[in-house]
Amino acid sequence: MDYINIENLDIPMVGLGTFSMHGEELKAVITSAMGMGYCFFDTAYRYGNESEIGDIVKAQQDEIGNAAPVVLSTKYSGLQYRGRKNRLFLDKKSPKRALSTSLHCLCRDNIDLYLLHSPFRGFQKAYEKMLKEKEKGRITVTGVSGYSVDQLKMIKDYCGVYPMIDMIELHPYHSSRALVDFCKENGIKLIARSPFAHGEILPLLSTDKDITSIANEHNKSVPQVVLRWIIQQGVVALPRTKNPSHLQENINVFDFELTSSEMHVIDMKNKDLSFGTVKR
Ligand SMILES: NC(=O)c1ccc[n+]([C@@H]2O[C@H](COP(=O)([O-])OP(=O)(O)OC[C@H]3O[C@@H](n4cnc5c(N)ncnc54)[C@H](OP(=O)(O)O)[C@@H]3O)[C@@H](O)[C@H]2O)c1
Repeated sequence: MDYINIENLDIPMVGLGTFSMHGEELKAVITSAMGMGYCFFDTAYRYGNESEIGDIVKAQQDEIGNAAPVVLSTKYSGLQYRGRKNRLFLDKKSPKRALSTSLHCLCRDNIDLYLLHSPFRGFQKAYEKMLKEKEKGRITVTGVSGYSVDQLKMIKDYCGVYPMIDMIELHPYHSSRALVDFCKENGIKLIARSPFAHGEILPLLSTDKDITSIANEHNKSVPQVVLRWIIQQGVVALPRTKNPSHLQENINVFDFELTSSEMHVIDMKNKDLSFGTVKR
């Protein structure tokens, strides 16, 4: 496993997305993943599985004993605080209470990565409040998810700093080149969510002769080539799978390297085609 380092936190270059996973299925996936060497799991308040993930990871770490640290990311949706009478309270400007809930669910005193889930009105103020929670030691790395260059600049103007991370849709049909370049120039690290566009691009790439010949050249699968193309840009990849053999395949991407011309061939597949957020 390779890592990027932010704020003295080593973040694995391949993590595991957990959207829509629950119960025994989630337990089986995370348990197998940890056994294979995964140590970065992404969740969100909106996914409704923070408590389950907290319990599963804690139980696994207790069982394994002196295990490698597990990095957890979760997200503040801006719509999550339940006020009196359990009404959903639109507390968009105050992630403090939401963070307390997430920390409790995840069985942690500190969350490794806490991200604004997606842009909403007043996000600059919410980011400023997240920075205050970071100062208190409740968050290690603060960031955002799905923010454009203009929105990143708005946070910089308001808070004086850029977010440390932007989690964006990034795959060969949506290379987000301008955003990636801007983030690199300004020291913002990137996480590629939906590296397979919820699985939708894999059948298309698997019939693309350029991509299959790169995969054959390295004796790797098309999904492995996609993940390697992401990692070689210095971007963390966050695939999601429930399938144990895909789980193994997606982490076995550190024993080969794409040449610069192969990287260029994949770069040229960009269609600026966004597949949006995950479908259930
Ligand atoms: N911040 C945000 O707004 C946001 C938005 C979207 C996603 N995310 C995060 O990013 C994660 C991943 O994105 P995503 O859920 O859109 O998923 P994705 O990784 O783009 O695609 C998942 C699909 O790809 C298939 N797949 C995975 N590995 C495969 C392999 N090696 N071979 C063949 N098929 C494979 C999976 O099927 P199998 O299960 O059958 O393998 C599943 O259908 C999410 O779970 C979430 O944590 C964040």
